Amino acid sequence: MTTSKFQKKSMKSPARLPGDPTAKQIVERIVRVDHAGEYGAVRIYEGQLAVLSKSSKRILIEHMRDQEKIHLKTFSEQISKRKVRPTALLPIWHAAGYALGLTTAFLGDKAAMACTVAVEEAIDEHYASQIKALEPFEDEVTLRETCIKFRQEELEHRDVGLEHGAEKTPGFAFMKGAIKTGSKIAIWLSTRI
Ligand SMILES: [Fe+2]
Ligand SMILES: [Fe+2]
Repeated sequence: MTTSKFQKKSMKSPARLPGDPTAKQIVERIVRVDHAGEYGAVRIYEGQLAVLSKSSKRILIEHMRDQEKIHLKTFSEQISKRKVRPTALLPIWHAAGYALGLTTAFLGDKAAMACTVAVEEAIDEHYASQIKALEPFEDEVTLRETCIKFRQEELEHRDVGLEHGAEKTPGFAFMKGAIKTGSKIAIWLSTRI
């Protein structure tokens, strides 16, 4: 059976109800929020490195920071290419990301790792929902593959955190919950503002 013209067109974007965002709006929101998230991630690791420059975990943190820089570069390019307005909250994430990294690192390298676990868990769920949202858009296969690749690297960061003592931080469950909630609020805001 051959695919009709109508079927081909309908596969490009999913059925839309009145008031639903358009495909363009969905993709713009994804690019905006991912750019913001990766920006914040770089700042968190930079904050941690300012404190942990002599720690045995420095190389690990530098490696994660460098991967976040590549993620940020990719979404910065998407912002320019698609002429998407970046979130107006970047100056806040600049300060808040750094402060979060700095504060957790002051509590010790295990607390820094706990911060990574919390943030990456939130980002994993976030990327997973985007990967699902992008599934119907045939024109956005490359963007979806980028999200899949970056999600995998964020999961590696979470595993690094777990392998390097995150769960041994006093009050780990509370800390993880608080940071994860904060990350989700930041994601929600950056999608919209
Ligand atoms: Fe990232
Ligand atoms: Fe990450």
